[in-house]
Amino acid sequence: MAIDVIVLAAGQGTRMQSQLPKVMHKLAGKPLLAHVLDTARQLNDVQITVVVGHGAAQVTNYFAGAALNWSEQSEQLGTGHAVAQALPYLRSDSQTLILYGDVPLIALATLETLLTNTAAGELGLLTVELPNPLGYGRIVRNKNGAVTAIVEQKDADARQLQIREINTGVMCLSSNDLRAWIPEIGCDNAQSEYYLTDIIALAKGRDRVIKTCSPDADHEVEGINTRAQLATLERVYQGLVAKQLMNVGVGFADPQRFDCRGSLTSGTDVFIDVNCVFQGEVRLGNGVQIGPNCVIADASIGDDTVIKANSVIEGPVKIGNRVQIGPFARLREGTDLADDVRIGNFVETKKTRLGRSSKANHLSYLGDTEIGEGVNIGAGTITCNYDGVNKHRTTIGDGAFIGSNASLVAPISIGKNATIGAGSTVTREVPPENLAIARGKQRNIDGWKRPIKK
Ligand code: UD1
Ligand code: CA
Repeated sequence: MAIDVIVLAAGQGTRMQSQLPKVMHKLAGKPLLAHVLDTARQLNDVQITVVVGHGAAQVTNYFAGAALNWSEQSEQLGTGHAVAQALPYLRSDSQTLILYGDVPLIALATLETLLTNTAAGELGLLTVELPNPLGYGRIVRNKNGAVTAIVEQKDADARQLQIREINTGVMCLSSNDLRAWIPEIGCDNAQSEYYLTDIIALAKGRDRVIKTCSPDADHEVEGINTRAQLATLERVYQGLVAKQLMNVGVGFADPQRFDCRGSLTSGTDVFIDVNCVFQGEVRLGNGVQIGPNCVIADASIGDDTVIKANSVIEGPVKIGNRVQIGPFARLREGTDLADDVRIGNFVETKKTRLGRSSKANHLSYLGDTEIGEGVNIGAGTITCNYDGVNKHRTTIGDGAFIGSNASLVAPISIGKNATIGAGSTVTREVPPENLAIARGKQRNIDGWKRPIKK
């Protein structure tokens, strides 16, 4: 059956103490709302309507171009009122599923269970039992165990406050029923709000069956109201990612000191030391070893490659097998390293390819450069790729040896097996097999007297 998802995201989030709308605060590098949308999109035949209010423009701009309906709730008069704003977008004969932009970790499997458990004409509710239900709407059941109503904390009597089964807010029902019942909701309650939860009693009044189910884990239905809750849920999320990675053969020095803000796929026998951050899309081959304090974004890393401490990879970057990187290396966008390459400390690369077994072990900048196989780039070598206006390319043939502290002024090409003397500033093409030396000739003055202080 077609699914219409309504995501409520109009709240300000006063307790975040922020200019940013609450649903735009990031968990694992991604806005809370994006987590919900990415999960909801995986449902079959789904259409999503987001109800925005506070900071609406900031929210819609961020998601510009995505296949979403936007509905603006200019005044936040309650969850029932929020859902009313989305009614015009619902398809006829669909099932509506209601989600929350500030409840980021709801799992697809839970939503699928809720939807399949709820037959046509029934209302499905996601509930959990909490040791401390303070603040939540309570699930009221009759003596047969059937749900009859949801009572909000502020409207509950002493006996209802004892109930530990709470409303997560997530529910599903037929769109036609929702359309018929929403207009019947009033605001005669402790908060003078239109409570979405009142439709439970409306459904019960029509003898509809109300089904409940629960998520596998409570974190799925935890909402974010404060930065402390956000930080807690961030660690929960990172713990889940680390666990998944350990299940496929990744070892961690400490899974609690690991951050993935994107997607990380990995082979087996990988080891990740402490305080590494992964961003965007990162793929690790088998046997990859990553030292402490590395930041790796948008990179594909081949088998048995070793990345030593404090290295930074700002992709897109492609790295072959058995490559050694760092410590303290910086690989920028467009770096492409073939198998067995070595990049050492304080080497920066950008739009540069190094062929098989080439080395740049110390203190270099290599930009807009094509380097062949078996090349040695001496310590301190700089490709001078920028003339102040334009960028120019450097090519270095197979087997070339670039002496230490050479400046290669681009555009330039260094032939196969050429040798560049240390300290040279090379401005013209060097043919294959040649030695190029371009530096002041040394003069020794015998018996030189140092000046003396007058
Ligand atoms: C709601 C439920 C409560 C449940 C709890 C779970 C109602 C009346 N109560 O209470 O039973 O236990 O969630 O967290 O539904 N929102 C809008 N527009 C509005 C009002 C709210 O978009 O006019 C959004 C908020 O941004 C928030 C969500 O809906 O993301 C929930 O609203 P909130 O006011 O926090 O409801 P609760 O009082 O927590
Ligand atoms: Ca809430």
